[in-house]
Amino acid sequence: MLQHPDHNALVQQLAAIGQGHLFTFYNQLSALEKAELDRQIASMDWPLLAELIRTVVLNPESLKLSENIEPAPFFEHAPHHAATREKYRQAQAMGEFLLKNNRVAAFVVAGGQGSRLGWDGPKGTFPATSVKNKPLFQCFAEFLRAMELRFGCTIPFYLMTSTANHQATVDFWNQHNYFGLPESQVMFFCQDMLPAVSLEGKVLLETPGTLALSPNGHGGSLLALYKSGALADMRKRGITQISYFQVDNPIVRCVDPLFLGLHELENADMSSKILPKISSTEKLGNICLVDGKMTVIEYSDLPAALAEQRTADGQLRFRAGSIALHAIRCDFVQRLNACGFALPYHRAEKKVSCVDMSTGKTVKPEKPNAVKMETFVFDALPLATGSIVYETDRIDEFAPIKNAEGVDSIASSRQITTLRNSRWLQAAGITVPHKPDGSPDCTIEIAASFALYPDDIKAKAAKIPAIKPGDEVYLG
Ligand code: UTP
Repeated sequence: MLQHPDHNALVQQLAAIGQGHLFTFYNQLSALEKAELDRQIASMDWPLLAELIRTVVLNPESLKLSENIEPAPFFEHAPHHAATREKYRQAQAMGEFLLKNNRVAAFVVAGGQGSRLGWDGPKGTFPATSVKNKPLFQCFAEFLRAMELRFGCTIPFYLMTSTANHQATVDFWNQHNYFGLPESQVMFFCQDMLPAVSLEGKVLLETPGTLALSPNGHGGSLLALYKSGALADMRKRGITQISYFQVDNPIVRCVDPLFLGLHELENADMSSKILPKISSTEKLGNICLVDGKMTVIEYSDLPAALAEQRTADGQLRFRAGSIALHAIRCDFVQRLNACGFALPYHRAEKKVSCVDMSTGKTVKPEKPNAVKMETFVFDALPLATGSIVYETDRIDEFAPIKNAEGVDSIASSRQITTLRNSRWLQAAGITVPHKPDGSPDCTIEIAASFALYPDDIKAKAAKIPAIKPGDEVYLG
């Protein structure tokens, strides 16, 4: 049986670090609520929190960048040299070997709060596709199932949630019968949560009896994989490589043999996919070599003098934009955890609903009132002994849904997906109607079961009906 934490000891512990206000409404709580608040407070790492409040919230240091920053070399999407093309052939074969031998797990980080999208539910339940309105989770499940059928393999799928969306996520997968994946192959686990803190360094209450908690950032995945037993489960299944992706991109290649193969052939610990940035200010982290180590410098942190540099042929010199797709070796996650690694915490000022300490009522702030502290997965890159970078194609793989409207919204994601699909169809000789501005004059959704790659369309071209302007086409 769980022991009830010593309330008086907690009161003293919090008072000593200036957080005694968390018990302001204690006497108004029911016995159950009191026990729950004590339990929640006892579960927090207060020495770490006190240190983070001191360093991240109250005295944030301005970022000190090394003088020694170079663009990271990357494998081009369409290589010019025969030797690189040969390398890609070997990498593709290696990636396929890993898949066929059941060495690869897919891993989506889905613990975020998706506050910009404003969707009431886990982001993975958001209807993403343009004809059938398939939720993001279904897009991933169908992609993985199609890859399994193609390579005659099993790809276990791990989903990281947070306490805020865990049950809703599990229930959703249950309601949809795991979208055709065997239940035994889909694993859910939670990341850790941290309290949000006022700009003055006071931990916030969400209600008089609960702390205002938020997930500790996607960097928390490297710890959660280990703590939850997911990593041990992977090893039991013979998995050696983790294909890491985010929950917001319906056309992501959840596993990509070529990328995984390059990563394996180069004996890398953690590798990244990138896109060439459209402009120096595009909001993608820059993958760089800092003092020789692979590092992501956030778009807002790379000095303009570097960000705007151009090569002789006019391209941005620092153009490797991270799209948060990584190949990660299981041994690397094991090694990090075995040596008690710590990723740096980043500060984000956000609007967090919290209790007004004078009235005890929960209020919704109009402007950012809190600091959330998060770790980022890419901060593990400098700890990797080997790391490769591979350039993917923007239209082929990047249609993120972050915002309700505008850039990276559902509308832009659907537009990109139709553009990708129209290119695939045209490459197979199928006529797609276009508007005067050159964009497709139709909506096209292609299920992974119909085609995983453009070449798959050719074999099925005869089945595709003629497309008229304004048509909605679903190929499944
Ligand atoms: P985002 O940076 O888009 O954050 O996360 P978010 O919390 O989902 O959305 P906003 O900023 O509130 O609008 C990128 C990816 O990292 C995951 C998200 O679920 C998404 O897949 N993530 C983020 C976590 O798994 N845990 C976190 O603590 C934060």
